[in-house]
Amino acid sequence: MSPKKAPAKKPVQAADAAPAPVNKKAPQPIQVLRGMRDLLPIDQSLWDETRKISESLAKAYSFDRIDTPMVEETSLFIRGVGRSTDVVEKELYSWETQGGENISLRPEGTAPVVRAYIQHGMLNMPQPVRLWYYGPMFRYDRPQSGRFRQFYQVGYEVLGDADPIIDAQLMVLGWNMLKGLGIDATVRINSLGSPESRANYKNALVAYFRSKKAKLSDDDKKRLLKNPLRLLDSKDPAIQELKAEAPQIVDWLDEESKSHFFRVIEFLDELGVPYQLDPYLVRGLDYYTKTVFEWYAASDDMELAQTALGGGGRYDGLVESLGGRPTPAAGFSLGLDRIVSRMKEKQQKQAGEAPLEYKPEPVLVFIAQLGDMGRKKALALFEEFREAGIAVGEAFSKANIKAQMEMANRRGAKWAIVIGQKEVLDGTVQLRDMDAGSQEIVDVKKAVHEIKKKLAQRLDNPPASA
Ligand code: HAM
Repeated sequence: MSPKKAPAKKPVQAADAAPAPVNKKAPQPIQVLRGMRDLLPIDQSLWDETRKISESLAKAYSFDRIDTPMVEETSLFIRGVGRSTDVVEKELYSWETQGGENISLRPEGTAPVVRAYIQHGMLNMPQPVRLWYYGPMFRYDRPQSGRFRQFYQVGYEVLGDADPIIDAQLMVLGWNMLKGLGIDATVRINSLGSPESRANYKNALVAYFRSKKAKLSDDDKKRLLKNPLRLLDSKDPAIQELKAEAPQIVDWLDEESKSHFFRVIEFLDELGVPYQLDPYLVRGLDYYTKTVFEWYAASDDMELAQTALGGGGRYDGLVESLGGRPTPAAGFSLGLDRIVSRMKEKQQKQAGEAPLEYKPEPVLVFIAQLGDMGRKKALALFEEFREAGIAVGEAFSKANIKAQMEMANRRGAKWAIVIGQKEVLDGTVQLRDMDAGSQEIVDVKKAVHEIKKKLAQRLDNPPASA
């Protein structure tokens, strides 16, 4: 290789020669955006649990993974979720691109999945098509406890099947996931009926609340005009009182929706899934028809008991309204931020007063080194262990052997390998059994083999302490 030429020197001009202005102010650290947060290493093992169980349940219930983009045309959400929903009206992160497209960060996963189902001709595959996803969603909501502007959902959608058994099985899937993550939850269910029965019910509800208009807040008066069903899940105490006398949707259901709902309940009874009928459950997205449901954790804390961990339902009209042929469908998603915080609370309860500590990834073998020659050899040996599929740790930037051994202990290593100058010259390593405290000299070329042998012996005869 020819030596690099030094770059030609720029002639010094007057402006270049002037001393650079001194910035006396120390730069301010930049904070994460409001409503957004970092998921830190200390919590990643909990997030990992959610990822693992999401995937294993997807396999068990035959769902295929789909990942849609985080941005979509804004019209997808206007048409899919509904123009007058809070999610679209107030909470969309939208902007116009340089090319003049109106795009939005996805606030939820169902409309994008349905778009993909239509776009990729999944309508022509054997039905139902079962899809699942895991990823961030974005809503420009007022940040508060359990409410973030970027949050994570896992979702499961079944497209192309109208049978009520699907609704029940989705509820079982969600329940199993929460149970698997150690969360005791119940599902609240309701039926919104067909679009026609829902419209009739809406009229009855509007007539009822109009007659009580004097008692409504300004916000609720607006809701009455735009999205009267949302009055039913208003937290306003005046509405809570008025609700008791309000018409109930079950009385307005058409025969088909009613029998669908009863079938769903029969299946839930059969499976022993704990549920509560909630005539006021309406959900915040417009695409639902028939069954709707939401999960809540069993908790003495009123706020927690009223924060939904997830929700879903049937959306038999969505595929058609997004341009596909009429196709029944149902699904749900769980809010993982809220789930992880329940898991963390539980972990904290178990730990008592002690602060939760970050636990580094455990390893089987830890390679410690002394001196320059030892360090070089250790670097290569680390690669040998890694390639052999053995979990191995190191602290190459540390020279002190005591600090390295402390690190080996912290990472739960069963064996430590020590290489110093003498070992390099002899072609050996010191192999320490961390539990027994014993030590032996092993040929460096046989180190990986020796550990494999010891591991097999250990699996056959686990030590009493393990
Ligand atoms: P959703 O009820 O809007 O439904 O959201 C589902 C869950 O996501 C909520 O129950 C909650 O746990 C979590 N979540 C929603 N917004 C936030 C937020 N700002 N911060 C933290 N967590 C939040 C849907 O999104 C539908 N796509 C569900 C569905 C799938 N329906 C049919 N298929």
